[in-house]
Order: sequence, then C-alpha cells, then structure tokens
Amino acid sequence: MVKSEIFKYYKNNIILIMNLNIDSTQRTYRFWAPMYDLAHHVQTIWQDSEYRKIVAEKTQVKENDLVLDIGTGTGLTGLEILALEPNATVFGADISEEMLKKAYENIESREATGSFYLLNKNIEQMSFKDNTFDKIVSAYGFGGIPDKEKAFREIVRVGKNGSRIVMLEMCEPPEQMTVKRALHNYMVVPFIKRLWHFENSDLEGLFLKNNVEVEGSEYKGDLILGSSKLVYGTINK
Ligand SMILES: C[S@@+](CC[C@H](N)C(=O)[O-])C[C@H]1O[C@@H](n2cnc3c(N)ncnc32)[C@H](O)[C@@H]1O
Repeated sequence: MVKSEIFKYYKNNIILIMNLNIDSTQRTYRFWAPMYDLAHHVQTIWQDSEYRKIVAEKTQVKENDLVLDIGTGTGLTGLEILALEPNATVFGADISEEMLKKAYENIESREATGSFYLLNKNIEQMSFKDNTFDKIVSAYGFGGIPDKEKAFREIVRVGKNGSRIVMLEMCEPPEQMTVKRALHNYMVVPFIKRLWHFENSDLEGLFLKNNVEVEGSEYKGDLILGSSKLVYGTINK
C-alpha cells in the first residue's frame, strides 16, 4: 500500500513564492500537468523512462532509507526507486500542486509498494531538519529553480554526511560537438526555456562548491530537444 499525502504550503514558503516570483513555474506546470508524462516521452523519444531507471539504480537505495526526490513532478522517479527498494520511504517535493496530483494518480494506478509522501514545497527553502535524508535524487527537477546555488545548499543541508546525490539535468553537449553545442545554446535552450521553464545547470560546479564529491558524470545525448547529464556523488560534511 502506498501512503500518499499532499501537504499544504508552509507559511514561509508562501512568502518565498511571492518574493521570488516562483508563480511563473507554477503556471507552466499547471498547464503541463495533464499531459506532462506524454509530452516528456515524446521530447526524449521515450528515453526518459530508461533514464529515470538509471537515476534510481545510481541512488543505491537501501532498506529504510529516506529518499528526497527534488521536483518530483508526476512522481515517476520516486516510483522507480520504490520498485528497487519497497522498504525505502520517498519524499517527493514539488512547487506545483497540479503535478503532485498527477503523481498521486500515478502512484495509485501503478499499485506500487512502499511509502511515497508528496510534499508541496519550494526546494529553495525546505522545512526539513539538517541531516535528514540518506539519498537525494532529481530527474529534470532542478533546471527550473531560479536560484540554483541557494537550492543546492539547501539540498546539502538536508542530506546526511555520506548521503548520495544523483541528479539528471539538461546540459550543454561536450565541447567537441561544436555544431550540436551551438544549436543547443541558440535554439534548443531558448525554446525549452519557454516550454518547460528550464535552463542548463552546472551540476559538477555545484557539487564541487558544496563539498559533494563527484563520483560519476555521464553525458546522455541525442534527445530530440536538448541533451542531459547524469552526475552523482557523496556529501562530505
Ligand atoms: C521537468 S519537471 C521534472 C519532473 C520529474 N522529476 C520527472 O522526472 O519528470 C520539473 C519539476 O520541478 C518542479 N519545480 C520547479 N521549481 C521548483 C522549486 N523551486 N521547488 C520545487 N519544485 C520545483 C516543477 O513544478 C516540475 O514539476
């Protein structure tokens, strides 16, 4: 049985939402929520499901782990994690209530086992205590966050020393792919930005700046729109 709950905004998050004008992200995902899963499958030529499985595997989830899924959206990454370890507990945090409602439907329809809590939260300011999570994951859940530096510091704060962080995000193609890189920067990014409210993240830079040891970095290219990078490592506090 999956326990699903949608928590209401915390007071301080409401203030933050207004200050940072996060409402445009919410508007974007209110629009996308009913068709997000299909649209993302099409955009990635159905590779997104495979990528989420890889993210889940790299998490190395264990029994009783508390896992934070950042920008959980429709909950598909959290579900992959529970498929690997039903005795873990996943906390899926997302700013969009409509995406979380879709996640709720996905959890119910897949009859997954395990505990999956859906939290209506802004990642830039979470109300979790320091050192709470054993694993932190994000599949395309970080690119839409306006202040990535602040959000990443917050992620490290709520992770335990030695916790694993696994993130998959849109990235620039490698330097030798000059043409693809130019297309990516001048055509794909402006388009994707409008479509998904999204932009590139320098994941490795953020890991290094915040004492997260990079253990792996894999380029995942050849999506119809955009390329992505899987970066994973361990928090050193
Ligand atoms: C491209 S979707 C990714 C969804 C999902 N992780 C997946 O694998 O498809 C990005 C998600 O991040 C959420 N998001 C954007 N900014 C956020 C923030 N500051 N705090 C929490 N969630 C945020 C959006 O609402 C959206 O559901």
